[in-house]
Amino acid sequence: VTQPDVFDGQRHIWTIGDYPAVAERLLPASVAMLEALGPLAGKRVLDVATGTGNAAIVAARAGAEAVGIDLTPNQLNLARARAEAEGVAVDLREANAESLPFPDASFDAVVSAFGVIFAPDHAAAAGELARVCRPGGTVALTSWAGGGWMMRWLDKAAMLAPPPPPGGPRPDEWGDADEVVRRLAAAGLSPQVEVRAFDWDFADADEAVAFLTRASGPFIAFLAMAEAQGRGDEARALLREAIVESDVGTDGRCLLPAPYLLAVGRRPA
Ligand SMILES: C[S@@+](CC[C@H](N)C(=O)[O-])C[C@H]1O[C@@H](n2cnc3c(N)ncnc32)[C@H](O)[C@@H]1O
Repeated sequence: VTQPDVFDGQRHIWTIGDYPAVAERLLPASVAMLEALGPLAGKRVLDVATGTGNAAIVAARAGAEAVGIDLTPNQLNLARARAEAEGVAVDLREANAESLPFPDASFDAVVSAFGVIFAPDHAAAAGELARVCRPGGTVALTSWAGGGWMMRWLDKAAMLAPPPPPGGPRPDEWGDADEVVRRLAAAGLSPQVEVRAFDWDFADADEAVAFLTRASGPFIAFLAMAEAQGRGDEARALLREAIVESDVGTDGRCLLPAPYLLAVGRRPA
């Protein structure tokens, strides 16, 4: 697998489906990540892998001078339309988290919600977050922690899919707090990492399956791969199984816990 294939694959999975519907669910994590930075008015904030603009738009609303980058042009187009509809100014640019197009120390804060975890060269990406943050500024990111329904699904999906090819993104590796600390420490940061609770809420398991296979690129791409092998029904059944086994809803609704890690580190002054 060559790197351009990896990045084309990423652009594909974040273009298909209905990412804005997923972003709406993930918004509380961006809000929590930005809250950890303190007051943002007048600060220059970079949102790496902004997607449809969740963290960048929240930062801009809080008075920050917000910049967002993403690998996927379609995500940026949606983010631009959303910022315009919300009446906030966000500078949105196409870029790769592994080589950010900004000079050293350009930002007061650099954040990434479930974003930089998809960069295959994690060391380069972590290094870039730290490099473009000014000394004394803050880097914050979120990643899916172990123990949630998505990790249960990944275990089941492994029965159908070949192991991930070397050189591809491994977002699951960012799910371990010690590993996140090691990666950010290698970039010169000493982060605090905490686990935050987060739930995906659906009317029932069928609605959960329908939502994921309609809106979420990684699930749609996985199903397409299984279908191409004549194993689409098996894949759907495994997804439903992961959801039913993870469901902790008590009032008839389907509630899927997906704890995430919030890492916050100051760049030494
Ligand atoms: C799960 S979405 C998260 C988007 C947004 N931060 C949010 O919270 O909704 C992952 C995003 O990472 C972007 N991405 C993946 N690899 C990237 C890379 N190497 N550089 C920049 N963005 C990347 C994708 O295009 C996608 O928009």
